[in-house]
Amino acid sequence: MDKNKWNKQELETLTKMVVLGTPVEKIAETLNRPNASIRGQMQRLGLKAPNTQKTSLLDGLTHAEEAKRLEKPVFGRLPLSCLDSSDWTRIGLVADTHLCCKEERLEALHQQYDLFKSEGITQVLHAGNPIDGYVARINGESVLSSTIDGQAKYFADNYPARTGITTYFITGDDHESWFAPGFNIGAYLQFVAEETGRTDLKYIGHVESDIELQVGKKPTMLKLMHPGGGSAYSRSYIPQKIVESLEGGEKPSILVLGHYHVHNYCVERNIHVISMPGFQDQTIFARKKRLRMEVGGALLEFKVNEDDGTVTRCKVEFNLRFNRGYYKKYIRSDSYLNKGHLILSK
Ligand SMILES: [Fe+2]
Repeated sequence: MDKNKWNKQELETLTKMVVLGTPVEKIAETLNRPNASIRGQMQRLGLKAPNTQKTSLLDGLTHAEEAKRLEKPVFGRLPLSCLDSSDWTRIGLVADTHLCCKEERLEALHQQYDLFKSEGITQVLHAGNPIDGYVARINGESVLSSTIDGQAKYFADNYPARTGITTYFITGDDHESWFAPGFNIGAYLQFVAEETGRTDLKYIGHVESDIELQVGKKPTMLKLMHPGGGSAYSRSYIPQKIVESLEGGEKPSILVLGHYHVHNYCVERNIHVISMPGFQDQTIFARKKRLRMEVGGALLEFKVNEDDGTVTRCKVEFNLRFNRGYYKKYIRSDSYLNKGHLILSK
């Protein structure tokens, strides 16, 4: 008898095992025949390869068939409330106003507060550098006053005041602290403002401040920060690195960054990160350092999941301004002193 010839019992076993979805390898082992022989016989009998056959990667069919046999996953429906359950919270944002400096953009800052007022904003967060400070080698040529009292009084006299709007500000460890180490310039700015009758300027911290927003059942944290260091080659690089450096437990829902004078919005590690432009034109120092200086403020709007306070919707509208030249027709300026540009002829 030809030992390679299949007997009736073997053919029946093969058919049964294929129908049960047994892998070719297992059938080959049971019948003590090579895999190729099993496949050849299956082909002759018109039997399809079992779905569980792993070697079917060669023809690419078995896994697709296997997928069809899987039970379909059942997804529930998410309630809209966990995405859209609270009212919009709206906050005004500014940073780097650098008051008492020739490059300040006081007219744009006042216009920003007019916008806040017309939009019904009652709370404005300021991400640091409210005044220009004084370090002779850096801004000695551009400050309007080089003294603490001079700048504090200038701030109280000129920072926009609008009925119903309170500005909460932090200070940075660059400009303001240059005044005098160990001196709390932020608290002093508030003190001088209060002495002049202003109660709308509130100092809330040095370098950074955590703000608890009570919208949902649990608080939503917003971190206001004035980091240090120079600008980066990309507007999003430093904000990303700052978020990377935050530890798990201290992550806020929203992070507002001053200092860099360029606008950017991104979401990193579930934190809505807003980098703020300033209200200062490019200074000589910035020009030498090749730092761009964007001018403007922002309107922040967000919704939270009321169950846990997580931010579920977030919108940032940057109100960027053009350079001073664009606004010449609207404001008085010293442009009449500049009669065009210099032309030298032989
Ligand atoms: Fe600044």
